[in-house]
Amino acid sequence: MLLKGKELADKIVKKLQNENFPPLTLAVFHPVGDGAAESYLKMKERWLKKINAAIRVYPVSQSTPLVKFYEQLEEVNNDPSVHGIMVELPLPIEVNYWNLHTKIKPKKDVDGITFHNQGEFFATITEKIVPCTSVASIRLLEHYDIPMVGKHAFVIGRSNIVGLPLFKLFLNRNATPTIAHRHTFDMKTLVKNSDIIAIAAGKKDLINSSDVKDGATVIDIGINMKDDGSICGDFNVTSESEKERINYSPVPGGVGVVTNAVMLENLYKCYKMQHLASQSR
Ligand SMILES: NC(=O)c1ccc[n+]([C@@H]2O[C@H](COP(=O)([O-])OP(=O)(O)OC[C@H]3O[C@@H](n4cnc5c(N)ncnc54)[C@H](OP(=O)(O)O)[C@@H]3O)[C@@H](O)[C@H]2O)c1
Repeated sequence: MLLKGKELADKIVKKLQNENFPPLTLAVFHPVGDGAAESYLKMKERWLKKINAAIRVYPVSQSTPLVKFYEQLEEVNNDPSVHGIMVELPLPIEVNYWNLHTKIKPKKDVDGITFHNQGEFFATITEKIVPCTSVASIRLLEHYDIPMVGKHAFVIGRSNIVGLPLFKLFLNRNATPTIAHRHTFDMKTLVKNSDIIAIAAGKKDLINSSDVKDGATVIDIGINMKDDGSICGDFNVTSESEKERINYSPVPGGVGVVTNAVMLENLYKCYKMQHLASQSR
């Protein structure tokens, strides 16, 4: 079965459209001149429009003084008309990631990167603001009724923004996760023994469908640029007929589209947290 993301993404957006909230604003710190970041920015803009939300872009170039970057971050932290903040990484300036992860206000942290939000997520079973792509991967599995309890889930990639939170989301759902990185030995055997494989390495053709056992599910998170300018994931499907034997999400059209919808959901969650905080004062 092909696990396409559009139907789920539309469902998430529709649910948000039925909620009652004022026009929201997302502040985005955006690396200037980065081709991939440019297209992600346009995509964010397009998706935000679906819930009548605005984007405020803060371009960051090599010549942007660090002081200015932190001043702008503080400005949006304190501006009540900004409901969410995203920093598109990597930035072209030397940002101290400890500073970044502590300076964004947790209630505006749309991608769940602050130590506050990550700490709460990892130390408890609450899932308030969790990185969008990891949530999108789980939502896709839930949407297609793929069972997780007791299943061996293999996560490839251990970044703070994708692989690691996905590992914890699997654990919260009583799956048995294993996580891999560049030093992992014998990935082939790990893949063969897994019921669910989530690949977030950014390496084209890292895993072949022929290595996946019958009935297993592959969530392909990777995004790679091909020579012809089109994009592909990390999973190499050897033939169309594999759809009969395994479940997998395509790139494009799988996790990516759901990630955009989850971004809107996280922005709304941020708004609600700020709104509730101001009401209880
Ligand atoms: N669809 C979406 O919405 C979406 C959103 C975010 C990211 N992505 C894509 O997902 C991919 C991962 O993103 P990221 O931000 O997590 O990237 P990242 O920070 O570069 O992390 C990549 C991870 O993959 C591991 N890895 C790399 N090569 C490997 C190999 N040959 N075998 C096993 N593990 C390997 C790395 O291991 P080490 O830790 O040992 O280096 C690292 O943990 C990228 O392609 C990115 O574009 C997609």
